[in-house]
Amino acid sequence: MSAPTMDEAAKVFVDPAAYADDARLHAALTHLRAHQPVARVESQHYRPFWAVTKHADIMAIERDNNLWLSEPRPLLATAAADDLGKQQLEAGMGLRTLIHMDDPHHRDVRKIGADWFRPKAMRDLKVRVDELAKRYVDKMRDIGPECDFVTDIAVHFPLYVIMSLLGLPEEDFPRMHQLTQEMFGGDDEEYNKRGKSPEEQLAILIDFFTYFGQLTASRRAQPTDDLASAIANGRIDDEPLSDVDTASYYVIVASAGHDTTKDAISGGLLALIENPDQRDRLRRDPELMGTAVEEMIRWTTPVKEFMRTAAEDTEVRGVPIKKGESVYLAYVSGNRDEEVFENPFRFDVGRDPNKHVAFGYGVHFCLGAALARMEMNSLFSELIPRLESIELAGAPQLAATTFVGGLKHLPIRYTIR
Ligand code: HEM
Repeated sequence: MSAPTMDEAAKVFVDPAAYADDARLHAALTHLRAHQPVARVESQHYRPFWAVTKHADIMAIERDNNLWLSEPRPLLATAAADDLGKQQLEAGMGLRTLIHMDDPHHRDVRKIGADWFRPKAMRDLKVRVDELAKRYVDKMRDIGPECDFVTDIAVHFPLYVIMSLLGLPEEDFPRMHQLTQEMFGGDDEEYNKRGKSPEEQLAILIDFFTYFGQLTASRRAQPTDDLASAIANGRIDDEPLSDVDTASYYVIVASAGHDTTKDAISGGLLALIENPDQRDRLRRDPELMGTAVEEMIRWTTPVKEFMRTAAEDTEVRGVPIKKGESVYLAYVSGNRDEEVFENPFRFDVGRDPNKHVAFGYGVHFCLGAALARMEMNSLFSELIPRLESIELAGAPQLAATTFVGGLKHLPIRYTIR
């Protein structure tokens, strides 16, 4: 493939289709890292921003959370969607999740749910997660010898785990699944069932708010031992969280908690199919599971970006950035940075060190990182020893989305014990 022009390269960030085409995406990112690691992107429907593609710059920006703020532009959205989000918040029906906030409010809100994701909580949850992993690998055996690994397995396992942690009833899981896909995958036709008009997008939010409003009321009236109760009854300076902050907390946990992990699991399996030497290595040496999981997360980088806005005039890699201008943290690019990773385009289950930025860095570092790691560890520890053969049964298909995404279909043929 010939090298893209600088303009073509920078356009990938605003083109959902680029994320469904790995070769095109990585050609553009590799080009930018080498020639314009801080690139200005101007595009019709988006306010301008600076795309930052080097690992060291992404880390430095995330580390300095007084200079680089999440407000008012925490992620890439069209100017129209940004404006709509602002109007919705003003009307009391908008999203203000942890990723939208800055300290000190961010720190106080994060604390409310944090205990549920600490190592001790993870150890308590492990038996249950192992049980679920076995259940889904058994299901794979039962529906074999072919399945769509994404829609039959990878979607359900993390959804089940996070809904259980929240304490939601099983009959509500499909509804949460659909809402999350609509909210995160709206760029992709297959996931966008309602359309993209402001009214249609607002309808998704209203559904979330209605559901979670009822949940808050019930957990305040009758607290139970689950994350939903911790959120509903959380207090800052002895005041309950606002309705917007409460509902937004559920939304971020419910959505970030499964779509991301599903992408890492299914993309991880595809990498193992495409690299049989690495699959054999992992089967022979299960001790490698920890590094293998980390490599799957680096390899897939399910969260493509977050953004920060400069609180003061500053510079990145010598490029002046004015107060109020935004930078786009290109995690996908950071995780293939040749200066940090030896052979970054090689999938290596023993990669160590592996300082990827797939979970971000600094005060917003992914709250659910330990949970995601544990889920993947459980699932692949159950699957790999039981898998006698596996191959593709059709073409894998990536979702066209600029935010959270990965495989939407992975047809496989296999034999499993
Ligand atoms: C492989 C799976 C996952 C990936 C790749 C991932 C990635 C990320 C990234 C990149 C961020 C932003 C970090 C930053 O700005 O520095 C983040 C934040 C967050 N993630 Fe995850 N995540 C995953 C799984 C989970 C799970 C299972 C949960 C469970 C609830 C979760 C909950 C959150 C929350 C609540 C935040 C916001 C944290 C804050 O702003 O303080 N994530 N995640």
